[in-house]
Amino acid sequence: MAINSQTKNSKKSMNVAIIMDGNGRWAISNSLNISKGHKKGVEIVRKIVEESVRQNISSLTLYAFSSENWSRPKAEIEAIKKLVIDAINNQVPELIEQKVKLRFFGHVNKFGKKIVSKIEEAENATYTDEGSLNLNVALGYGGRQDFLDITKDIATRVLSNEIKIDDIDENTISQLSSVPVNDIDLLIRTGGDRRISNFLLYQIAYSEIVFIDKYWPDFTKEDFIECIDNFKKVSRRFGKRI
Ligand code: FPP
Repeated sequence: MAINSQTKNSKKSMNVAIIMDGNGRWAISNSLNISKGHKKGVEIVRKIVEESVRQNISSLTLYAFSSENWSRPKAEIEAIKKLVIDAINNQVPELIEQKVKLRFFGHVNKFGKKIVSKIEEAENATYTDEGSLNLNVALGYGGRQDFLDITKDIATRVLSNEIKIDDIDENTISQLSSVPVNDIDLLIRTGGDRRISNFLLYQIAYSEIVFIDKYWPDFTKEDFIECIDNFKKVSRRFGKRI
């Protein structure tokens, strides 16, 4: 079934996802405007992307804007939109140099034509068959919304006889999901809260989860390396007796 064209399972082993929480609290604790917290957050993204390439990670999936974030103040949403455009303008050349393949997912259309065409431009410019890292950015994404979209998609395909009910399996769900990666190995959440917040609900079934008390703007390359090194020591049984 040729549903999703992106290769979701890379030959390399490690898929990392990050809930980059704490930008707002970092800004407040430094007597700064909230948008300055997000700006600092983008600087950290850059460092973590560079380190992900060095660490030979296959994919890095970042939660930049959730479907629930639409209820934030308009000024903050506008600041995040501008940051996304600035980040694309400033960082795509370096991503190309590092052979990083950039992909956005979620209800991106809600951000308007300007962002949609910027995103298409960035995805095309960074497309390569020999990528170092798949950098996936969730924008207007929610795990429950993804389930809903998948359910409607399956129902439509069954009704049009494209697929049979008996042929639906876990692979069908993975392929129809908007998330460009199947299984997250390591999920990191900064900012001190211990929750998932509607991120990658299907893909984190067997993830190791690390909660970091630091706010995202204070998260360092060394913290990231520590998370990866600790992950490598974990024995993963996937429910089996080994
Ligand atoms: C969480 O902090 C962060 C966000 C909701 C936005 C993150 C967005 C960026 C870093 C910019 C875009 C990124 C890319 C990759 C282009 P919060 O505001 O929820 O923090 P708080 O919990 O302290 O309020």
